[in-house]
Amino acid sequence: MDDHFSATSRLRLATPSEIRSAFREDVAHGLQQRQKTIPPKYFYDQQGSLLFEEICRQPEYYLTRTETAILTQHAAAIVESVGECALIELGSGSSLKTRLLLDECQRRQDRVHYIPIDISASMLEATAHKLLEEYPHLRIDALAADYLTGLSVLPAASCRAVLFLGSNLGNFSPREQEQLFRQLAHTLKPGDFLVIGLDLRKSLEVVEPAYNDAAGVTADFNLNLLGRMNRELHADFDVNAFSHLAFYNPVQHQIEMHVRSEREQQVTIRDLALTVAFRAGETIHTEISRKFDLDEINAQLAPFGFCPRIRWSDARSWFAVCLFQFAKPHDSEV
Ligand code: AVJ
Repeated sequence: MDDHFSATSRLRLATPSEIRSAFREDVAHGLQQRQKTIPPKYFYDQQGSLLFEEICRQPEYYLTRTETAILTQHAAAIVESVGECALIELGSGSSLKTRLLLDECQRRQDRVHYIPIDISASMLEATAHKLLEEYPHLRIDALAADYLTGLSVLPAASCRAVLFLGSNLGNFSPREQEQLFRQLAHTLKPGDFLVIGLDLRKSLEVVEPAYNDAAGVTADFNLNLLGRMNRELHADFDVNAFSHLAFYNPVQHQIEMHVRSEREQQVTIRDLALTVAFRAGETIHTEISRKFDLDEINAQLAPFGFCPRIRWSDARSWFAVCLFQFAKPHDSEV
């Protein structure tokens, strides 16, 4: 494990090598599919991570605001429920909401062990340094990696609570969700915890505007994927010839986000020695954002050994923070 980290006193940062070549390969593969597609984890380069922070401040994007209110009200109860565990966070970003929990930990404990996992190395490192300045009890092992890679190289801890906030789980297809639950069951020990923040099903009139904000920040975030391919893979996307598309699919209970070609055109991705043709109106599928039903998620987690313990919600039941405890997996599926 230690070879993944460069050690200083209270901070260790690691970038497992797996993420470096993945973008190239996933773009090459995804743009040669019939429905072109790029996985949403690639939104989060330095610019994309900043744009996401800006999305969270838009009036239409109720998710962050609602979850923050829940965490503000119940941070003490959450921290009390998990006891003195190491906090592992999947998709930690700026760790702004996590601070509400860290504040509580710091009040109760002499030492707090925080293990943020984030695909954006720059955001991860900047956040870690800020947190260390402000939280003297904190020790941080930061992993710049995607979730599955990060979970597979976790440092030792006697008790663990995995935080998976922000409805980040919504980006996962049912198959990917299963894979993640399997990896979590593999990583955790009986008695460990999982704290998941989930955006719940609600009226399309509320959900759709959250992904079509009037200021156009979500559009910039989505189209930044093209900019990223231009910058990192020497592609020649004309960003103005594409547009942002996001709509709610009520059958699958999910937002579907695409980048749409406004005209027939060809794009060359120099580093991949690849030329890609677009028809007018053709799209690259960039994200799903699933909206959850709590009974359904309980049933999906149960086969992997996760038992529902407590859940906290807002008055309108728009969002929920759910605490699960891991017992031994009891299903052959795992
Ligand atoms: C960070 C995955 C929860 O799906 O709402 C925001 C990302 N995409 N606006 C979400 C996102 C478009 C966000 N998650």
